[in-house]
Amino acid sequence: MTFASPNIKNSSERILVTGGCGFLGCNIAAKLATRGRSVVAMDNLSRRGSEENAEWLRQRYGNRVAIEIADTRDADAVDALVSANTAVMHLAAQVAVTTSLEDPISDFEINGHGTLNVLQAIRRRNPRAPIVFASTNKVYGRLFDPSEVRRVDCRYVPDDPRFTHGVAEDTPLDLYSPYGCSKGVADQYVRDYSRVFALRSVVLRMSCVYGPRQFGNEDQGWIAHFLLEAIRRRPITIYGDGYQVRDALFVDDAVNAWIAALDNINSISGRIFNLGGGPSNAISLRDLLQLISELRGDQPDVRYAAWRPGDQPWYVSDIRAVSQAVEWEPRVSVRQGLRLIERWLDNHVSAGGALASELLEARV
Ligand SMILES: NC(=O)c1ccc[n+]([C@@H]2O[C@H](COP(=O)([O-])OP(=O)(O)OC[C@H]3O[C@@H](n4cnc5c(N)ncnc54)[C@H](O)[C@@H]3O)[C@@H](O)[C@H]2O)c1
Repeated sequence: MTFASPNIKNSSERILVTGGCGFLGCNIAAKLATRGRSVVAMDNLSRRGSEENAEWLRQRYGNRVAIEIADTRDADAVDALVSANTAVMHLAAQVAVTTSLEDPISDFEINGHGTLNVLQAIRRRNPRAPIVFASTNKVYGRLFDPSEVRRVDCRYVPDDPRFTHGVAEDTPLDLYSPYGCSKGVADQYVRDYSRVFALRSVVLRMSCVYGPRQFGNEDQGWIAHFLLEAIRRRPITIYGDGYQVRDALFVDDAVNAWIAALDNINSISGRIFNLGGGPSNAISLRDLLQLISELRGDQPDVRYAAWRPGDQPWYVSDIRAVSQAVEWEPRVSVRQGLRLIERWLDNHVSAGGALASELLEARV
């Protein structure tokens, strides 16, 4: 397989990254800037750590990345930003299932209505601007009952052989949890605006992305959260039994897929892809704890609690469609990626001291 290296075509064009000071957004903004593109990172800075990511972008990229503090619920602000840019990477979102259960209305306003504001702005003000949208595996619901998976060593595996390569895009939608519903609605709007209004759009349904600049907590960003708790020698709570499986995707690989999606927009417009580490990067929570013990030479202190709503016992992305469409493949193994995020967290905690602790302790 050949790899598509991000192919930045016209450096005079500016790309709007909503949620551009979040974990994935700031990594996308940084990569685009490194490749010579001008970027507008738009964010309402509601996520803990986003201000620090904004400062990191400012210091590292200067004028190449403009930071715009704005909210996707503000249609006028979205209109103005979309008009002034040539493409949109839309990542701004309320990202935690737990928060969506506490406040489903805000969750919908941000994820559902906020996305509609972005689509309407493109349709009315800048219809040639392509949009890449951050969707989620949660649109497929729980997928398996406990009776449909069996345990092999430290992980669940599905009985159904159709899932050998992972969960494919033709799996029926089963929006689960307010977060799953609001992201699922947005996912369908993005695809439909391509059908009915000829917008150039692509939807990436991501599973578990991890890496530097991720301010993970118990509600979202579990790999960063587990590692951080291990670094700080604090107990880790596992919801469920820990045999649940996810495919982990290192952030640099995710960013390359996002940029490849934008570069290939003319051939993939209107499509939806599952994006994750795929079967070769599938790990259970218990596998991760084991890897963390090996990395740190110390067993993390682990507690168990009840499953959380909508938790999937097994989710692994079938990445064959995206790999073929944009000539992309994950390159960083979980073991390598863990070392990289551990180094970042270690440095961050020792350099930031109390600030790092405070940021990472708080819930979103
Ligand atoms: N990280 C993952 O594993 C993962 C998996 C599936 C889907 N996603 C999706 O990818 C996107 C990025 O996720 P992330 O992990 O980088 O999360 P993140 O919380 O780090 O980034 C989201 C950013 O959006 C900003 N934001 C929130 N509401 C906003 C609003 N109304 N207007 C403007 N900005 C707003 C936040 O301040 C934050 O900086 C999200 O849409 C998320 O649903 C992420």
